[in-house]
Amino acid sequence: MEETNQISLPRIGEAAPEFKAVTTQGDINFPADYKGSWVILFSHPADFTPVCTSEFMTFATMEDQFAQANCKLVGLSVDGLYSHIAWLRTIKEKIEYKGMKNVEVNFPLIEDITMEVAKKYGMIQPGESNTKAVRAVFVIDPKGIIRTVIYYPLSLGRNFDELYRVLLALQTADAFNVATPADWRPGDPVIVPPAGSCGTAKDRMEGKEEMKCYDWFFCTKEISEEKVLDTILKK
Ligand code: BEZ
Repeated sequence: MEETNQISLPRIGEAAPEFKAVTTQGDINFPADYKGSWVILFSHPADFTPVCTSEFMTFATMEDQFAQANCKLVGLSVDGLYSHIAWLRTIKEKIEYKGMKNVEVNFPLIEDITMEVAKKYGMIQPGESNTKAVRAVFVIDPKGIIRTVIYYPLSLGRNFDELYRVLLALQTADAFNVATPADWRPGDPVIVPPAGSCGTAKDRMEGKEEMKCYDWFFCTKEISEEKVLDTILKK
């Protein structure tokens, strides 16, 4: 079977599959061109569709926020370049959504009419559609390693605040060697990794480390919102 006909599902912890592509911002060599930055590679089902339009307007409006967290955005659908250009122009000229208008999409949108990239990234999920990419999200770190994968069906628009939270949580986990609990946001307590990786369970239970231990397996510590954001956001 030809490589382009194989559907693969890249997994967390693996190197992001490589590809070269044409985009609305010129050619890209992925992920090499993004080395040193976080990048969110995401797919949408089709240009000139309403849910995708609302998503692009939201993501484009948040682009600077993601850039401050050293994260670039790259979109993809199996439409062609001229469709992408016409759609993005229409969004800017005509669409108003939740107070957003005149929205310019400045991040690259990949044309993938052969579905080569979409198939490499498991974006074509035949149970949902043979001809459209599902709403996939790959969060890739500055070394080109996939750190989070999220798939949504065609009908469900993504929550971009959640994607931003995911990015900050991954960066916080890396910077402070911690994990982040349910619904974590900067300023909330973080989870200290299981005993053995730092300190001992006994030290923890005796309160020798600056953390609160409820039992040997559940220890938290405080990191202020200011410290988190000072560490991970660009000044
Ligand atoms: C949309 O973006 O509105 C959409 C695209 C494909 C299928 C269903 C909805």
